[in-house]
Amino acid sequence: QTRLPGEETYVELRTPEQIWEAIRELKVRGAPAIGVTAAYGIYVCCRRAGGSCFDDLCETFDRTAAYLASSRPTAVNLSAALERMRNCLLAHRDEPAAGIWDRLRDEAEAIRREDAAACRQIGEYGLSLLEPGAGILTHCNAGHLATSEYGTALAPLYLGQERGYGFRVYADETRPLLQGARLTSYELMRAGIDVTLICDNMASLVMSEGRVQAVLVGCDRIAANGDAANKIGTSGVAVLARHYGIPFYVLGPTSTIDADCPTGASIPIEQRDPAEVTEAHYAQRMAPRNVKVYNPAFDVTPCDLITAMRCAHGAFRAGQGDKMRLRVPGRDSRVVSAGAVCRGSGRARRKMRVRLVGRKIVVILTRLTLKNIELWKFWTIDPPRTPPSAILGSSPSLRSCRSGNGC
Ligand code: MRU
Repeated sequence: QTRLPGEETYVELRTPEQIWEAIRELKVRGAPAIGVTAAYGIYVCCRRAGGSCFDDLCETFDRTAAYLASSRPTAVNLSAALERMRNCLLAHRDEPAAGIWDRLRDEAEAIRREDAAACRQIGEYGLSLLEPGAGILTHCNAGHLATSEYGTALAPLYLGQERGYGFRVYADETRPLLQGARLTSYELMRAGIDVTLICDNMASLVMSEGRVQAVLVGCDRIAANGDAANKIGTSGVAVLARHYGIPFYVLGPTSTIDADCPTGASIPIEQRDPAEVTEAHYAQRMAPRNVKVYNPAFDVTPCDLITAMRCAHGAFRAGQGDKMRLRVPGRDSRVVSAGAVCRGSGRARRKMRVRLVGRKIVVILTRLTLKNIELWKFWTIDPPRTPPSAILGSSPSLRSCRSGNGC
């Protein structure tokens, strides 16, 4: 993906070093795509290492998995895919090595297939949010190239194109590595979608001119409270969208939800080479030598700036009375609530929180029933007839909520 749009070429990856470098250097990029690459990668590396002793295989697996996981820290899909592959390895420990390799290959295939199916489903959910002819702004690249197929944030646009929705898309160029300019505009043009490339600092003007009816972005990690990490610049777009009253939607597969991260503050943010800011994609260096550079690759959009999230299992949506059943395969059960993560219980628990979303008071009841099942429900009171402080004061279970924007 580093050569697009000028050149289409394929690379074959065989060794841990090649796979690590391909992920690190963004030859393969996008949260779901790097998860799938890591899954295939660990299979290829274990198979090439050979040997028939399970303990040796396990040792190779763990060493390689730790190495691959260190390539990029922010997208949880990478470590989640490796964890799932490890569970597969352990589940088949009693089989001969050849059988275990087949299982690992099948598991990697399953991760890829499930990602494609999830993206298709996300496309359907996402499309239901959009009106024909709408102007859509997107940031970074969350299309085919970033996933197994279809993409996340771009999936509704592909489906809309098939169904004659006639969307007009504005693609932020996405400094410093230009994923929007190089990849999103390339992908959308190939699909025949009407796309206009803008510099990142043009989004406010384009929104103020009434050209944008919705913002769609992907995500690299969603914390348990709904804060979402995505490409640097995403949170600024969310602030603008809130200012101009434009819905801001985050789309991603369930594998991007990290229930171990209570809030966005716990999401590790990748810092990258300063040369990406000063030199990459310029014909010559465009900053004084030795200038100090800050180059975080991602930022976190606070959940209260997100109008709705769509994943393959349903919707989180303030204001619609929607509910979501969410299964997190291979994980302990947990309650997702403001800053709290509860683990391991098989019995029902309830948590309630209140959030102020614009002028709406949203009461969120999270109910945990059985292992790995979370049920979310939302109600809204709009417009508030009672000052939020009075409502917060009326219930002992709500009094402990933080005050202010977040709760
Ligand atoms: O650094 P990148 O290009 O890998 O960052 C990718 C993004 O931030 C995408 O928007 C995100 O992974 C969603 S991909 C479906």
